[in-house]
Amino acid sequence: MPNKNRIWIVLCGIVLLAASRNAAAQEPALTWLGHAAFEYTTRAGKVILIDPWITNPKAPKNVSFKHVDVILVTHGHSDHVGEAFDLAKKYNAPLVASYELTLIAGKHGVKNVLPLNQSGSVDVAGVTVTAVEAVHSSGYSEGDTVIYAGAPLGFIIQEYGSATLYHAGDTGVFEDMGIIGRLYQPQIALLPIGGTFTMKPSEAAVAAGFIMAKTVIPMHYGTFPALTGTPAEFQKELILKHSLAHMRELKPGVEVKIKDLM
Ligand code: NI
Ligand code: MN
Repeated sequence: MPNKNRIWIVLCGIVLLAASRNAAAQEPALTWLGHAAFEYTTRAGKVILIDPWITNPKAPKNVSFKHVDVILVTHGHSDHVGEAFDLAKKYNAPLVASYELTLIAGKHGVKNVLPLNQSGSVDVAGVTVTAVEAVHSSGYSEGDTVIYAGAPLGFIIQEYGSATLYHAGDTGVFEDMGIIGRLYQPQIALLPIGGTFTMKPSEAAVAAGFIMAKTVIPMHYGTFPALTGTPAEFQKELILKHSLAHMRELKPGVEVKIKDLM
């Protein structure tokens, strides 16, 4: 084949590929479902659920999904596993969690699992999910026994052409959040602020400094009386600490476009 023809074939291929990418692309969006639960719709239109306790006291009524493409669960506590096992079965969506928690999910009939552990990544639903450290505990309660559920995790979600998200899970503040920031450079960080079981606002503001995300979104507050931290306090602490991060308070059930969070 003459070289000129080859060049044309390659050029047409590139144009078609670019066109198909754009045709499929949409504006990624995030919906807080209360507590630590989020629905993230990717640029490719895939739906990712994170810690889907969709019956939490702050969740919108009758949460439903057209489709679910992957479910991420940070650790074994019931306020994070929530309805994950039922949702994974209903939508045949792969469940991403610690190895031990995927074994527990398997005992509950979840067949499609993607186990990982800290610094491990998995490519799923067009994104790369990486597990990162969280300073917390992780047991799965069944009746009056607690089953070991592996290490508690945070998740980094990366998609080509879109912002990188960091869901910190339940965690205290730790200086290696700076390594998470340097390694993955998340533009948006979802941070627990309720206190008692996680960071409170003063610590979440220090965490924001380590992570260096442009936008920080408070979560894991106000669900129970014990979770006393508020977005107003978090905002005050960010200002006191001269943070460069913008805090954005989400309303449960209200979808926001990622570009409007930047
Ligand atoms: Ni927890
Ligand atoms: Mn929790």
